[in-house]
Amino acid sequence: MKISKIGKSLSESVTLKLNATVLAMRKNGEPVIHLGGGEPKSKAPASTIKDVNELLETRKVRYSPAAGTPEMKDAVIKYTKDFYGKDVTRENIAISSGAKQALSAALQSIVDPGDEVLFPTPYWVSYPDIVKIAGGIPTTFEAANGSLYPTIKDVKNVYTGNTKAIILNSPNNPSGVVYSEEFVKSLVEFTEEEGVFLIMDDIYHRLIFDGYEPISCYKFTEKDINDSQIITINGVSKQYAMTGFRIGWAVGDKDIINTMKNIQGHLTSGPNILMQKAAIGAIYGDQSCVTDLVSQLAKNRDVLVEELGKIDGVKLESPHGTFYSFADFRHYEQDSIKLATELLENTKVVTVPGIAFGKDGFLRISYCESAEEIREGITRIREYLMKK
Ligand SMILES: Cc1ncc(COP(=O)(O)O)c(C=O)c1O
Repeated sequence: MKISKIGKSLSESVTLKLNATVLAMRKNGEPVIHLGGGEPKSKAPASTIKDVNELLETRKVRYSPAAGTPEMKDAVIKYTKDFYGKDVTRENIAISSGAKQALSAALQSIVDPGDEVLFPTPYWVSYPDIVKIAGGIPTTFEAANGSLYPTIKDVKNVYTGNTKAIILNSPNNPSGVVYSEEFVKSLVEFTEEEGVFLIMDDIYHRLIFDGYEPISCYKFTEKDINDSQIITINGVSKQYAMTGFRIGWAVGDKDIINTMKNIQGHLTSGPNILMQKAAIGAIYGDQSCVTDLVSQLAKNRDVLVEELGKIDGVKLESPHGTFYSFADFRHYEQDSIKLATELLENTKVVTVPGIAFGKDGFLRISYCESAEEIREGITRIREYLMKK
């Protein structure tokens, strides 16, 4: 049997694997605390249900157009106006089966073999593999000053004539860092100067605290969307607690969107028609579910920061968004897989090894579970490390 070179270069998603481990442990009755998760625990908004049920009852559930229904695209036009202040049309929008697919189809539309795609470390686990599947070379940059906030100088240090695109995810999975407006502006200007793509993965952009507001990258460009090299990625998974619905989208130049449509048309066909109806319901519905989620997450974040602060030697950049924190455990262990495994075996607390995000010695600890579980989980970790 011969597996392809690209196939062999891919690794299993560490986070999805962990979810499966947790399920198995819980089934065995083990008192697991899952601080490794990546989904809010709230319910999807009620506004998602009615139209889905109506269509389901007809029992005539058909294919969707490959890049989404006109109604779903109209919902994204509204979303883009509301949260980015940008006017776009249906031809600028591709609806996908999750932001993951939107990102993947966008990269497959622009990347040629050997093109480099840059993103900061720590990065979302899937970026390197999604870039590889598109035939590109994942290339990372880091803040020279050791912080989690790189500057345009750090980008320029790894930029080459082979760079095709830069991805920025703000707030960031796994660190919860919200990059500054100044950094986003400098990236927009730099990518326009160089004629490369800027992919803004904004999947968490409304899940921010401490007075931060979602940043619109379009603020920093004069270009028409059909002359723009900016592609924004978004979706319903995180902000509306709709991870299982699998609806995301990309907004960009119509030629790229059209290429994405062709890719999806051959690979998966259009996203599930029922779930597009649910996503439309979420976008037009009462938005208090998002504000409620944000205030819950901000409270959980405070609990986590307080509890982690009680562990001597653990360093943390307080997250301003998402539901993740990225804590530095190098005082105890450099090998993050070893540490996460040890913690799972001895305390039954699930964390994600930092190496999965490109940085060893760190653990990603989520705060989408209840405050009690966060307290209990971090207490177990602290007591274990004190004895070590
Ligand atoms: C940074 C980032 N981008 C994209 C996604 C994908 O989201 P979706 O569920 O819409 O595919 C995730 C999910 O964890 C993520 O963390």
